[in-house]
Amino acid sequence: MKENIIFCYSGTGNCLDMAKNIAKELGDTDIVMMRKYPAVTDVREAKRVGFIFPCYGGGLPGHVERYLHDIKVSPDAYTFGIAQCAAYKGEGLSKLNALIPLDYWAAVSHQCTCIWLFPHDLMIPKMGAEAAQARSEEFASKIAADVKAGVKTKKKLGKALANKVEHAKWPVIARKKGQSLKASDKCVQCGQCAKICPTENIRYAGKAVVFGDKCISCCGCLQYCPQEAISMGKVTEKREHYHNPNVTADELTQEIISY
Ligand SMILES: Cc1cc2nc3c(=O)[nH]c(=O)nc-3n(C[C@H](O)[C@H](O)[C@H](O)COP(=O)(O)O)c2cc1C
Repeated sequence: MKENIIFCYSGTGNCLDMAKNIAKELGDTDIVMMRKYPAVTDVREAKRVGFIFPCYGGGLPGHVERYLHDIKVSPDAYTFGIAQCAAYKGEGLSKLNALIPLDYWAAVSHQCTCIWLFPHDLMIPKMGAEAAQARSEEFASKIAADVKAGVKTKKKLGKALANKVEHAKWPVIARKKGQSLKASDKCVQCGQCAKICPTENIRYAGKAVVFGDKCISCCGCLQYCPQEAISMGKVTEKREHYHNPNVTADELTQEIISY
């Protein structure tokens, strides 16, 4: 087993980009993706174990919480958790910390990929994609240096009660938003949306693209569509699309990315 393991969920690439940047600096690292059930769960041989995921609706994305219950980490390992968000970190890190106590944690604001709710440059402070990317890369270097040095975060993770209330409603909202997904006649049936969907919720029926009822609202299908043919309600037809410039759709679908 590699010395370092980073578990990563990413819908539109920002978290995977950060995981890759940290892995490059740490060396000897496997990034284990958590978009689906992780390919490896017993990492008791790893010296450092990290978790990188975005905040979705105030909490953990997709089925990450369920998967976390199965992950086995050595009590001697150094552990770290990074939450990416547009504006606030939510309760995800607190939930993770309750299951796998964290030595180090940080929250990083990046572009907002929740296109049906806000434009992508709504973040803290508001900034364009290039500036946000440069800032995220600086954060990744600082985090990697801290992780290498074994720095421990002094500030305690609170219970984030307001986010707990917010997140309780999230699965229903996400599924409902998923029901407003549509492909326009710009669609060339390239297959990318079906391939990238972490819940296998998209299929073709003749010329139609059919969206099922398992959407977790990651927006990957919409944000990575090469034709910009997918919408999630009227407002998304007008909004500029965004996905991380350094992460391809193919990378997102890997189970493990090794450094
Ligand atoms: C479905 C969805 C819900 C989101 N909910 C929140 C939220 O509650 N609070 C927040 O600050 N950012 C929220 N965001 C923004 C993401 O946390 C942010 O864009 C993150 O960088 C996405 O990471 P990714 O590209 O690795 O998926 C949400 C994004 C999506 C797609």
